[in-house]
Amino acid sequence: MAEFIRDLKRTNSCGELTAKDVGKEVVLFGWVHNRRDHGGAVFIDLRDRAGLTQVVFEADAGKEIHDLSQELRYEYCIGVRGKVVSRGGNVNPRLVTGEIEVHAAQLSIFNRSETPPFLIEDKIDTAEEKRLKYRYLDLRRAPLQQTLMKRSQMNALTRSTLNRLGFVELETPYMVKHTPGGARNFLVPSRLNPGKFYALAESPQLFKQLFMVAGFDRYFQIVKCFRDEDLRLDRQPEFTQIDVEMSFVTQDDVFTAVEELVTTLWQEVLGVSIPKPFPRMPFEQSMRQYGNDKPDLRFGMKHVDLTEILRRLDGGGVAMWKGVQGIVKAVKVPASANFSRTETDKLEEIAKGMGAKGLARAKVSENGEWTQSPMAKSITPEARAAINAACEAQPGDVLLFQFGKESMVHTVLANLRLFLGKKLGLIPEYGTRENNWKFLWVIDPPLFEYNEEEKHWVAAHHAFTRPHDESIQYLETDPGKVLCYRYDLVLNGFEIGGGSIRLHDPNVQQRVFKAMGIPEKEAEEKFGFLLQALRFGAPPHGGIALGMDRLAFLLTGAESLRDVIPFPKTQKGTDLMTDAPGDADPRQLRELHIASTYKPPE
Ligand code: AMO
Repeated sequence: MAEFIRDLKRTNSCGELTAKDVGKEVVLFGWVHNRRDHGGAVFIDLRDRAGLTQVVFEADAGKEIHDLSQELRYEYCIGVRGKVVSRGGNVNPRLVTGEIEVHAAQLSIFNRSETPPFLIEDKIDTAEEKRLKYRYLDLRRAPLQQTLMKRSQMNALTRSTLNRLGFVELETPYMVKHTPGGARNFLVPSRLNPGKFYALAESPQLFKQLFMVAGFDRYFQIVKCFRDEDLRLDRQPEFTQIDVEMSFVTQDDVFTAVEELVTTLWQEVLGVSIPKPFPRMPFEQSMRQYGNDKPDLRFGMKHVDLTEILRRLDGGGVAMWKGVQGIVKAVKVPASANFSRTETDKLEEIAKGMGAKGLARAKVSENGEWTQSPMAKSITPEARAAINAACEAQPGDVLLFQFGKESMVHTVLANLRLFLGKKLGLIPEYGTRENNWKFLWVIDPPLFEYNEEEKHWVAAHHAFTRPHDESIQYLETDPGKVLCYRYDLVLNGFEIGGGSIRLHDPNVQQRVFKAMGIPEKEAEEKFGFLLQALRFGAPPHGGIALGMDRLAFLLTGAESLRDVIPFPKTQKGTDLMTDAPGDADPRQLRELHIASTYKPPE
């Protein structure tokens, strides 16, 4: 008899047979999704990555096949040969294959399955720990399969689009020399060079610049990067970038290439047409209006800066605002939210959870006076009127205030804005409408930020970012004023990419190091090979890296970054399936000249 796989090749997937196939003989391979015994006839849904097909083992199909079909259980892996038959009036409109069923004439059980620890259904409420432990079973579920297949489509589209735009796909090493700054690196001990370590590359940054020096003109890579960071919702310790570098370009040229790529992805994978060019917002405006550099523009509720008003009015009668150090800002909750006093009180608890000392607030009444506020009595009418006007406050609106250190005010109000946006239903769901996707370039940030602890200026991104020509004059006199050609691509409140035009002028480069207090010798030690390469006729160049996992996460509407990564790590950086990280064998450690000083807590 003809044998499955060897003689009987698969004719169709489980997701494609319809009424037009009735009468055909087919061979299907897959897994038993479920099984029903209807007095003699056994019905199963056979599943593969394309979908489900109903297969029937009738009592009169022959004793051997019928007996074997009785043995079928969840997740058995089988082969079936049979005939496509119309379901007549029993059509299942939820399935592509719902018009037909396959009446089996031959069955082979390739492999039996233990009872799976959870059902392979679209929606399950199994704890994520268990799903991660049996990730290969979780990955059998249709939502995860569809997400990962979309990701595969994204990879293919990235390659075809960037190839079309003249980019060359080149690889860079993962095991590299540790360079200071940036994210914390994972270290890899070198057996051949005792006592020495490689770092796992946090990005191909230096190498892609060397490709430009080497004359490759346009480079890209879909590349794994490694960062030993504390994990958050949108972070993984190993993640994937679409990494890009281009020669002879301005910032606008980089944006044009990236917009072409991103709009192609949204068009092809989601069928959504995103208008080009994407809007741009200066970093300064983003901080002022949204308190961070990745504003979610799907809703309003901008921050209102009251610092100048209150400085001018000497605190406006409110003791805690008199001579306040830092800034004063407000967010307005519209009257339509109809917040009760208890709800507003709850907001204070939430703000405290975000690092605030408290949450000053006031409800605006019909005549513009303030109620439900400890400041109502002391604030001068002039200050109240100025604040109401600045916030464009209407009767019934609630004003929430934060004051003090700029970074704290920004963090608290940025988070509060997002919290309120969600709570008040102002943020539309992800979906297929153009309006659901707010792409934004955040541009022109400062080159340096002041490190309070170390008391000197450090690069806000990295030291090889090109300053604006007109701000080079401030390098020595007022480093905080130097703006640069760095840019982030933001989508719905997530940073999905970041890059810069690089500094290729060795003289300005020296001045940048000097502004950061890095002596020439130290710069040579740290970045020697790049500095040297830049002295051999480096072309003007710039680039960007897009976070592929974040793109996939947003594009597929997944619930977490883990859902778009086949084998992700937990919040604690562990892999529950393989149990990594694990202990090292003492022999391995001896070979590497390494001894652990770690003592487990008693
Ligand atoms: P940057 O560090 O901004 O730039 O990284 C680029 C993009 O990568 C994504 N990303 C992450 N995604 C998941 N998990 C993480 N831990 C993680 N860290 C970053 C983000 C981010 O915008 N070499 C520069 C790029 C350049 O200048 O060309 C770089 O790596 O979406």
